[in-house]
Amino acid sequence: MRFGFASAGWAGRIPAVSDGADNLYDTARQVLDTERRLGGVFLPAGQTLPGESAGNEAGPGDAQDKAAALATLEADAKQCTRCGLCRGRNNVVFGEGDPDADLVFIGEAPGQEEDRQGRPFVGRAGELLTKMIQAMGLTREDVYIANVLKCRPPNNRTPGADEISACWDHLVAQLAVIRPKVIVTMGNPATKTMLDTSTGITRLRGRWQSLPMIGEGLGGTAVMPTFHPAYVLRQYTADVRGKVWSDLQQVMDALGLPRT
Ligand code: URA
Repeated sequence: MRFGFASAGWAGRIPAVSDGADNLYDTARQVLDTERRLGGVFLPAGQTLPGESAGNEAGPGDAQDKAAALATLEADAKQCTRCGLCRGRNNVVFGEGDPDADLVFIGEAPGQEEDRQGRPFVGRAGELLTKMIQAMGLTREDVYIANVLKCRPPNNRTPGADEISACWDHLVAQLAVIRPKVIVTMGNPATKTMLDTSTGITRLRGRWQSLPMIGEGLGGTAVMPTFHPAYVLRQYTADVRGKVWSDLQQVMDALGLPRT
């Protein structure tokens, strides 16, 4: 879902860097190209598709292309054996939601229920995330939800650095297709990974950050770190809940969503 963005300097995108490691991104781009050409519209350089504007704003055509590109990436992720987590998984939890979402939530890794269903945030923490999204006046279908890791670590332990780096290309390729305007990172592993920082969530939450140049079109994307819903469930105080809500309200303001 594309919102009327309350545009600010930090949302501007830095020109793409070439990161040759990202084969998945190339695959996604190929799919987008193919969709365009085989969809019956040959696109001369510099011209936009019907329903697509010249800037970063996407139209209905883009949403279909993005869905196809994400489906290709998901099929690829389902075959992934880049780290040992593939041996214990029941399902790869790629992510779900609107392929053309302005807003992406990123968590840590699938838990037991997510591994069972193959969907992100469908356990207890997921119920709270769903409520958070609804409190913003949105539904899960309006946003995109993903994790740093696509496979469940045993006993829900914290992801290892080797696992994060093995899974990284999947996430970058996914984000390079969606190109959200705002990313909400939930908890320490997601925040530290996305921002490439050792600073903890308690210091970073509630303060706008800028995504490093991790992939084409992604550098400079606005990032709002907040507490992980599982932490909120453990520390269910008015203070913690109030902090998360204030972080989400900043996101709503940035996206031009009404505070009701
Ligand atoms: N916690 C996460 O970080 N991700 C999920 O998908 C579920 C719980």
